[in-house]
This record gives sequence, structure tokens and C-alpha cells, in this order.
Amino acid sequence: MSVNKEIKRVTTNSLQEMKSRGEKVSMLTAYDYSMATIVDHAGTDVILVGDSASNVMAGHETTLPITLDQMIYHASSVVRAAKRALVVVDLPFGSYQGNSKEALNSAIRIMKESGAHAVKIEGGIEIAESVSRILTAGIPVMGHLGLTPQSIYKFGTYTVRAREEAEAHKLRTDAIKLQELGCFGIVLEKIPAQLAKEVTGSLHIPTIGIGAGQYCDGQVLVIHDMLGINEGFKPRFLRQYANLYEVMNNGIKNYINDVKSGSFPNEKEQY
Ligand code: KIV
Repeated sequence: MSVNKEIKRVTTNSLQEMKSRGEKVSMLTAYDYSMATIVDHAGTDVILVGDSASNVMAGHETTLPITLDQMIYHASSVVRAAKRALVVVDLPFGSYQGNSKEALNSAIRIMKESGAHAVKIEGGIEIAESVSRILTAGIPVMGHLGLTPQSIYKFGTYTVRAREEAEAHKLRTDAIKLQELGCFGIVLEKIPAQLAKEVTGSLHIPTIGIGAGQYCDGQVLVIHDMLGINEGFKPRFLRQYANLYEVMNNGIKNYINDVKSGSFPNEKEQY
């Protein structure tokens, strides 16, 4: 299907309409101006300034260390680039778990200081009060269920979630709750495809899957993973669309060789 570039700006309403007419939503992460420009020009519907920046931009093992100030820095760079995409920003670990007032203040800072269009927050019923308070302030909220990386030390592993009925039941209930509260969409991360299908069918808001199979209303991937910048990260759910590690590595090696041999710069490349 070709990308509809006629849309001026993708909004939370556009995503709803896409679900209604059966058009899948494309979402990718970006954390800086240059990458976000490419992602936006290609026609991606939603750009997620994910807290995965903690991993791929800062080199941390988990998403926990990234701060609200750092997320705002990444988000404002992406917002300057995104002319068409809806820009959604993760509320980072420690910026909302304390209480709903803290959650609201963090969401307001993101919206005010970065110019983003919406926030994403991990969790279900336990964060209902925070979600509700943020929404009351007029800030669109996207939910995130299944594998929620900010809880990695509680889970102890990054394996598939909600295989057991008790966890699957909670996820179904959480999804309905987030919809009732007014979330405009929900990311479903690393859950069985059949469960994602069931949840997607039970909601009128779109589900965006990552490692959650083909029945979600849209898909999201971390840009560094899908472009093959992260050498060696190849989980089953990931389709790699390029091998930028190799392309960049070769380019850099050629540059080094040219500098060492004295062939760069040549006469035409100087003043
Ligand atoms: O931070 C992130 O990149 C995310 C996606 C994996 C959904 O939350």
C-alpha cells in the first residue's frame, strides 16, 4: 500500500480513522533531528521518541537511566524535523511512578519544552490515576502493555510476556481500562500474536505491536534495529531492512585509508 502523503499532519484522530478503514499504522523511533527528518520524509505516521534512547543513543543496558531532561532534549530535536508525523514521547522511568501530580508535571514539561504531540506511558490499572490526570490536562496519552522495559528488574528477563492466563487476563483488562480512560492507542510489546489479535479486536483505539504479531493495527520498531545499525541484535520479531552498520563501517574505513594514504583531500577538494 502506498503512503498517503497528502495528509498535512497525522493526528491522534487520523490514527483512529486509519483503524476504522483498516489501514495499518507505521511507527518508528527517532531521537535526533537528522534521523527524524529521514523518518518523516519517508512517510512514517508516528515517530516515537522512545526511552530506548537510553540504550541506542547513550549505551545504557536498560531504559531506566534516561532522565526527563534528556528525553526533552531528544524530543525537541525530533519535533523540529517532523513535518507530517505525530510525535509521541515516552515518559521516562522515575518521572511518573511517584504520584499522578508528578506524572502530570512530567507530561506538561514534555509538551511545553519539546513541542511534542503526545506522551506514552508504561503500565495498566496501577497508573490509571496518572493517565486520567494527564488526559484531563488535554495531553493525548498512548498506553504500553506487555513487555514494559522500565520494569525489567521486576520481570528479570526480556522474554515474551502474558503467555500464562493470569497475565493475559490482566493485559486484556488493562487494555480496556486504558481505552476507557481515553488513551488514543496502545503499544503491545512482545506478547503472543493470538492475544494481541484478541485485544486488538476488543478495542476501538489502535494497537501498535512490537513483537506482538500481524494482527495489531500498526507496527513499531526501533530505528537502529530495523536499519541494522545495532550489530548483533537480531530477535525473532525484528525484520532488518538495511545493514547500515556495514555501510557505515565500510565508508569510515575507506575514509581512514584515504586519509592515511594522502589521497583525501585531492586537488579538487581544496581551496
Ligand atoms: O522506547 C521505545 O523504543 C519503545 C518501543 C520499543 C515501543 O517503547
